[in-house]
Amino acid sequence: ADRVPFHGHTQTGITSLPVPASGLLASFTSLAPDRGALEEMLRELTDEIDGLMSGRPPRVRDPALPPEDSGLLGAEPPPDDLSIVVGVGASLFDHRYGLAALRPRELVTMPFLANDRLDPARSHGDVLVSVQARHPDTVVFALRQLMRRTRRTLTLRWVLDGFGRGSAPGESTTGSPRNLLGFIDGTANLTSSNAALMDRYVWVAAGDPEPAWTAGGSYLVVRVIRMFVEFWDRTPLAEQEALIGRHKLSGAPLGRASEIDEPDYRADPDGRITPLDAHIRLANPRTPETAGSLLLRRGFSYTRGFDGAGALDQGLAFVCYQRSLEAGFLAVQGRLDGEPLEEYVMAEGGGFFFALPGVRGPGDFLGQDLL
Ligand code: HEM
Repeated sequence: ADRVPFHGHTQTGITSLPVPASGLLASFTSLAPDRGALEEMLRELTDEIDGLMSGRPPRVRDPALPPEDSGLLGAEPPPDDLSIVVGVGASLFDHRYGLAALRPRELVTMPFLANDRLDPARSHGDVLVSVQARHPDTVVFALRQLMRRTRRTLTLRWVLDGFGRGSAPGESTTGSPRNLLGFIDGTANLTSSNAALMDRYVWVAAGDPEPAWTAGGSYLVVRVIRMFVEFWDRTPLAEQEALIGRHKLSGAPLGRASEIDEPDYRADPDGRITPLDAHIRLANPRTPETAGSLLLRRGFSYTRGFDGAGALDQGLAFVCYQRSLEAGFLAVQGRLDGEPLEEYVMAEGGGFFFALPGVRGPGDFLGQDLL
């Protein structure tokens, strides 16, 4: 495991590879009374993230005081591919801080989309923190350090944690994990090490029709999507594969042999091989007109016990990053509206956020150009 460098023009945890197996999303309400306190909070958050990602050892303090960290990871917390990304919600641009004119142009409170049952207690927020690492204890350690540092100004609104890597990681040619429907998830994702692709599809650029401070940031969409897994497990394999558009075991597009084979929809205009309403065909029809809607997915699976009816509460924390909400997530979601897979899944929470531009060097802080 390595250290993910903290400094950069963009937040490094959006694109760092490999995508580590443990993830957590924590959404906060800001209690900062004014813009000065908001800046102080962002400086504290920045310094703590820098310390966590760069492995700054905790100082030994007078035993009459609480120790500087929880001790969960011992004296020298290992790198563990830890990365932390910070985003802000539309609500941060309300009347409180006088930032309304600086709101990223497309940033709104996530509306109810088709098939959604959004629970307000598990949706939205002023500040979203995404933590990823190889191991869950590293993730928990980081969350507690961040909260301890900001406890006067940030209070929790909702938290969701989960995991990515499956039990047989070698099975996927692309190294992608399986989601809780049992399908390899991530095959046709954008390759985040390809800087040209990231510039085109993920980062807001200086010339975009956006407030200047947003350059190097990215729209961040979170969808907490419950899966009705018992129902899914009683569905015939052929039907499952037709709903997704890929073979379950190999991850290959229907009718192809290998996970990395490309589907050829032009040779299959009537959907005899890949149904026209299969998830992957709707999400990305691979036509020139839809080429602008690619997005960078970086989600994870979650399980959180069971509901009052005795059904498992499991699903996908769908997370994606894009340069424009309209061109990215909203275009793809619009095509997915009404897809047959909806019978097995339901969005229950999440939110629209804007991942702040990166912290370029020592002394700089997250959100610096906004404030
Ligand atoms: C592809 C599952 C929700 C966008 C896939 C694949 C699977 C999958 C198995 C094929 C492997 C891959 O290329 O990664 C699911 C499940 C979902 C879900 C189970 C809900 C629980 C969403 C949502 C969006 C989305 C909400 C965006 C609005 C995409 C895209 C692809 C994809 C863009 C790639 C299609 C391609 O380029 O061929 N999904 N997905 N998915 N999904 Fe989803």
